[in-house]
Amino acid sequence: MLNVGLLGAGRIGAVHARAISKHGASRLTAVSDAFQENAKAIADTYSAEVRTSEEIISSPDIDAVLIATPTDTHSDLIEAATGAGKAVLCEKPVDLDLARAIGCEARVAQTGRPVMVGFNRRFDRNFGALKAALDSGEMGKAELLSITSFDPAPPPIQYIKTSGGLFRDMMIHDFDMANFLMGDLPVTLSATGASIVDPDIGAAGDVDTAAVTLSYADGRIAVIKNSRRAVYGYDQRVELLCSEGLLQAENMTENTVVRSTRDGVSRAKPTYFFLERYMPAYEAEWDAFVSAVNNNAPMPVSLADGVAALAMAEAATQSAQSGLPVALANVIKDSGCGEAA
Ligand SMILES: NC(=O)c1ccc[n+]([C@@H]2O[C@H](COP(=O)([O-])OP(=O)(O)OC[C@H]3O[C@@H](n4cnc5c(N)ncnc54)[C@H](O)[C@@H]3O)[C@@H](O)[C@H]2O)c1
Repeated sequence: MLNVGLLGAGRIGAVHARAISKHGASRLTAVSDAFQENAKAIADTYSAEVRTSEEIISSPDIDAVLIATPTDTHSDLIEAATGAGKAVLCEKPVDLDLARAIGCEARVAQTGRPVMVGFNRRFDRNFGALKAALDSGEMGKAELLSITSFDPAPPPIQYIKTSGGLFRDMMIHDFDMANFLMGDLPVTLSATGASIVDPDIGAAGDVDTAAVTLSYADGRIAVIKNSRRAVYGYDQRVELLCSEGLLQAENMTENTVVRSTRDGVSRAKPTYFFLERYMPAYEAEWDAFVSAVNNNAPMPVSLADGVAALAMAEAATQSAQSGLPVALANVIKDSGCGEAA
């Protein structure tokens, strides 16, 4: 039985607490939060203890730590937990700052402890099936990828202000999906961003609508579109044109009924948001982590994957600001680290 300490009992912490407790080979042992009442609510639900983050990290009865605190705490907590010998699953992104994330990766390597980054969409059964079809070879070579990722509504402005911006907080999932499907990092990124949905987001220095083109060394192309608002629900689609055909993963809808009448054809909306769409993916993500820890196997999403996606977010942020394409290698070099992430 894997004994787990959860750091951060907010929106996503509650999702992970459920998955940890539901899993047959893990137990939620302790929960921490900056606000004790948040930790207590989850601890009471799953018969766990409330402890401080420091106590959880130093507790000998904890095997693994799940980090679901705000992004600016991630690198510090990853380093502390791995330094204390724990296995770690940390929410995305690894950090707000690329140089800090690269430093964290180097320090974790010295501990030899495993760290997985929470790119849950890799565990969505639709995207997983699309990847399996690609890997089977029947579709030939992936040539042109298109990712659509629209939230139903923006988060509170307070969240936006500490999130690191749309590219680091939201599109980071899509950068990782591009890496997962294309099997390589792009050479350059060209980004356009605007504040169209909510002027307060623009006033906070962020964008709420963006499109990014990724160019690969062998000429392949990926396009990612993000918006913080889609009035019809959570729009999460992938389309991959391959040399032998087209792969598409469509939205999950509230139900599968299609109404066809003289006036037209209609169907249900996409499910509302990430909790509705990705709950099974969070459970599959946790299962993959437990299995990797128990089998001493490589993590299915590594810290290096998290750093790579963050470097792409940094490149897109710079490109949206300058209006010019940005080379990924230059972003990594400018962070003070000469090597590719
Ligand atoms: N993978 C996903 O789908 C997904 C979805 C949402 C959020 N996230 C990520 O998860 C992280 C948390 O996001 P959220 O939406 O749950 O935020 P949240 O604000 O709802 O929850 C964060 C919690 O951490 C607590 N906290 C703050 N500092 C702490 C510390 N040092 N130690 C312990 N607790 C602390 C806060 O009091 C709060 O309860 C962010 O990095 C975000 O990017 C990922």
